[in-house]
Amino acid sequence: ISEVARVKNLNRLQMGKHEVEAWYFSPYPQEYAHLPVLYICEFCLSYFASQFMLSRHRHRCNLFHPPGNEIYRHEDISFYEIDGKRQLTYCRHLSLLSKCFLDHKTLYYDVTPFMYYCMAVRDSAGCHLIGYFSKEKESADNYNVACILTLPQHQRHGYGKVLIEFSYELSKKEGKLGSPEKPLSDLGLLSYRAYWAETIVDLLVNATEDISIDDIAQKTSITHQDIMNTCTTLQLFKHYKGQHVICLSDAVLERYEKSKNKKRRRIHPECLLWKPPV
Ligand code: COA
Ligand code: NA
Repeated sequence: ISEVARVKNLNRLQMGKHEVEAWYFSPYPQEYAHLPVLYICEFCLSYFASQFMLSRHRHRCNLFHPPGNEIYRHEDISFYEIDGKRQLTYCRHLSLLSKCFLDHKTLYYDVTPFMYYCMAVRDSAGCHLIGYFSKEKESADNYNVACILTLPQHQRHGYGKVLIEFSYELSKKEGKLGSPEKPLSDLGLLSYRAYWAETIVDLLVNATEDISIDDIAQKTSITHQDIMNTCTTLQLFKHYKGQHVICLSDAVLERYEKSKNKKRRRIHPECLLWKPPV
């Protein structure tokens, strides 16, 4: 299929109790494209042309959570680490599904160079996929995220920030700084900017002594570049006695207090049982 022919080919997707509209082209096989609804097994992500075929599959499919190792659990949230090389089919299905909501990224047909970190929420019926990010096993550019997605039915509930926070917790365990792969989508950029601002301001508000860009980087695993950009956007740099200092303005503090009152899910680092894969 040529690039020009890549117009949106799917209509609606059914996953578990949710039905959503696809946003972009995804290379599902011809016979599955253009159906009014594509039925997706919410646990193994296989796809079917009808509800009947999906329910027949559900009798055989014994997955009730993402495959791979559960490396994090706190309350009803779990993270599963999945090696693209070991779970080829699942990771290909995940790529096909996520391409429906990703415009600019070249889809990684080759899933083997990536690890996949799937976030799921547990209830009595199983552990339901909310979102995920992929990460190169070896990144020459120190990217700590390749693709990141919250399934559309779960967007705008703070899960994107939880995924991002988790990606930085992995970088902290690796003792590395990390940044998401560029270019980011508009929604990706909005989410990262919000995360960076919140994390950096939180650190500054609670600092008991002078803190440098490098201190922030070491504590958060956010790169110097991303910290500089965030501080510039928030207008935190001030000239003081011939020096550059980071200074929190009343406007920034006010926004910080407001966002602190919004309760949001956080990662509890002590619940992450993980060593960097060798
Ligand atoms: N409009 C305006 N701001 C938005 C937004 C939207 N539609 N979506 C996210 N944001 C901003 C907000 O500042 C939000 O924080 P707030 O709700 O406290 O104001 C912040 O981003 C994070 O939102 P959150 O609810 O944690 O994110 P999410 O679960 O909706 O997931 C993405 C964010 C980017 C993962 C999600 O939009 C997505 O999967 N998009 C499609 C795939 C993609 O573009 N991925 C990135 C490129 S690889
Ligand atoms: Na992908």
